[in-house]
Formats: sequence, structure tokens, C-alpha cells
Amino acid sequence: MDVCEAIRKRRSIRRFKPDPIPEEKIRLLLESARLAPSGTNTQPWRFIVIKDDNTKKKLQEAAHNQRHVRRAPVIIACCADLTAFKEFSKRVDELINSGALPERTRDVFIPYLEKGMDTVKKQDLITAAVANVSIAVEHMVLQAVELGLGTCWVRWYDDNKVKEILNIPDLVEVIALMPVGVPDEDPGQRPRLSIDKIAYSEKYGEKYT
Ligand SMILES: Cc1cc2nc3c(=O)[nH]c(=O)nc-3n(C[C@H](O)[C@H](O)[C@H](O)COP(=O)(O)O)c2cc1C
Repeated sequence: MDVCEAIRKRRSIRRFKPDPIPEEKIRLLLESARLAPSGTNTQPWRFIVIKDDNTKKKLQEAAHNQRHVRRAPVIIACCADLTAFKEFSKRVDELINSGALPERTRDVFIPYLEKGMDTVKKQDLITAAVANVSIAVEHMVLQAVELGLGTCWVRWYDDNKVKEILNIPDLVEVIALMPVGVPDEDPGQRPRLSIDKIAYSEKYGEKYT
């Protein structure tokens, strides 16, 4: 299956067969997340693979009783470790050493490196983390399609309850819960805005031709 087909076939799946998911497939999902791009290669994503029914039950409750959260044989809790940004200097060095960035990049980053990540506002770190982790999550979502698995992004949950259930430390944010399983439904394409409603030409609001 090519990427184009995976994008077109993907749906949010909310009904799952009880079949367990082979460990190799879970590893392939995690591997596809691992290869995602991130700002200055910070890789702040962290994943918790949950199979225990009691934990799934608690997560369903924390997610306003959304049934698909418990129906799936596996839930992957997708998190962002805000402390990953403290390794910024190391990541910059790695990128320079791998030839991805020129040596002079270090000078551009020196003001940030000197100030240290502790001076960056938590909300700014969260904004960066959400962008980075979301890309990794969507890598898994598309990889799942190729593996014959269904997923659904779930963001509607009580954040504090999820953190407590999963023992998540302070500087780690939950970005999504992702139920994963063999689909037991085959829904059609959901409504989408047309390209002329979402794309502009040269300036915002100017008709895309
Ligand atoms: C960031 C995000 C949060 C979402 N949260 C939920 C959720 O909490 N529960 C749910 O059932 N679906 C959730 N969805 C799935 C959307 O409802 C779904 O993507 C949308 O209706 C389009 O349907 P499709 O994914 O099948 O194309 C979420 C999707 C995204 C991207």
C-alpha cells in the first residue's frame, strides 16, 4: 500500500474486533512514530501501550465514557515529555555532526543554549510539543491502515484523571489516547470542506486557482 492509498482509506474507527494485536505490529506502529520529524529533532514523544482491561475501563471513564476507548484491544497513550527540550544542546550537536545543519548553526542557537530551557514558558513548550507529537501520532495512524488496523484519535478526556491513572509525571502532557484494533466497521469517507474553501492563492482569502 502506498501513502496515497493509506491516506484515502483511513477512517476514525470506533468498533473493533476482539482479536489481539501481534506484538510485531505494535512495534511497527512505534517505529513509525520514532521516525517522525520534530523541531530541532527534540523527539519529545513518549508512548504508553495499554492492554490491561481494568486500566482501559478507567481510561474510558476519564474519556467521558467513550466506548471505543475500552473496546479496542490496545490503547496507546501518546504523551509529550517537556523535559526533552532540555536536551536541546545535545540534539543540535547531533544534527551538526550528522551533517544536517552547518557548524554555524550553533552560533544561532547560542542565546537559547545559554539562557537554558528553564526560562522558556511552559505553554510555549506545550505548543511545540503538541505539533511534534501530533506528527508522530499521525505516522502511527497511517501505518496502522497498512497493517489492517483501525485507530481513532481521542482528545476528549479529563487530562488530570488520565495522568493519575497512568502515573504520568508533572512535566509530561497527554496529547492523545489512541485505541488500536482490527476494525469491525467499514465507514465511508466523512464530510470534508472542498479545496476552494481551505486553500488560497498568494494571500489569505484570495481564490485558489
Ligand atoms: C485532535 C483530534 C481529536 C479527536 N478527538 C476525538 C475524540 O475524543 N473522540 C472521538 O471519537 N473522535 C475524536 N476524533 C476523531 C474525529 O472525530 C474525526 O477525525 C473526524 O470526525 C473525521 O472523521 P475521520 O477521521 O473518519 O475522517 C479526534 C480527531 C482529532 C484529529
